[in-house]
Amino acid sequence: MNNLLSICDIKDDILEILDLAKRFKNGEMEEKPLKDKSLAMIFEKSSTRTRVSFDIGMYQLGGQSLFLSQSDLQMGRGEPIADTAKVLSRYVDGIMIRAVNHSDVEQLAKEADVPVISGLTNIEHPCQALADLQTIEEHLGDFKNLKLCYVGDGNNVCNSLLLASACVGMDMSVACPEGYEPNSEIIKIASELSKKTNCTITISPDIEKCVKDADAVYTDVWVSMGDEAEQEKRMNDLLKYQVNVDLMKLAKENAIFMHCLPAIRGQEVSSEIIDGPQSVIFDEAENRLHAQKAVLYYFLK
Ligand code: CP
Ligand code: NVA
Repeated sequence: MNNLLSICDIKDDILEILDLAKRFKNGEMEEKPLKDKSLAMIFEKSSTRTRVSFDIGMYQLGGQSLFLSQSDLQMGRGEPIADTAKVLSRYVDGIMIRAVNHSDVEQLAKEADVPVISGLTNIEHPCQALADLQTIEEHLGDFKNLKLCYVGDGNNVCNSLLLASACVGMDMSVACPEGYEPNSEIIKIASELSKKTNCTITISPDIEKCVKDADAVYTDVWVSMGDEAEQEKRMNDLLKYQVNVDLMKLAKENAIFMHCLPAIRGQEVSSEIIDGPQSVIFDEAENRLHAQKAVLYYFLK
């Protein structure tokens, strides 16, 4: 069964999926290719972009989606994930899930008889990384000549970007304080992939070194969903890592600014930057729809 739980699951097909996303955006794909297909969407956490883009994406592809909040499902009252996976597989053609624990999504995928697509876990956010690559290519061109710098908390979004960059041969640096590094297993896999695609992966607390010569500067919230108990500590630890005018000056002159959203102005990014001319945040948000349609087509067709 083909699932999308990690960028690793599409490491050999990522360019093909990006090409599909481009074709969907340009209106070059057949009409309603997922006619009569259905997608169950399980959300254990809040969402605006992921929920709406999957929902509208399925509609535009001719299929149907079903929003299932954790609190409404019997799973929220303790029904086993395995039983939920088997039951949903009898009704729908695919399952999208945003979950607290990556291991729960792995279990769901193991037990399901239909493709499972992750809409974010504590470890990865693969669909976001696809939309981000689409946005980078649109604004900056060939990945091989580019450097992406992620600044701040080495979280789920950062993990998927590391893998995605390594897959397409784009240099990537992560500027983060000690204790906020991306997942060590993911760094290992991304480093292995990067050897094959001839690009570099750098993880360092040295902001200047990481941002130097960057074509794109990316950040995400300092307090991800589920990290709320560490709010105060994170604010202090990450303070120096705000993306602001001074930090952007360290990157290339025409560097773009990226953020998966939602953002908190005045924390991980200043208003001047996120609302300024270098920001491409709404292109990224729009591309969630096109990239999602590519993913749905690829896995459900
Ligand atoms: N970027 C992203 O996944 O946004 P939502 O949490 O609104 O889905
Ligand atoms: N890192 C953030 C991303 C939200 C889209 C979180 O997990 O809350």
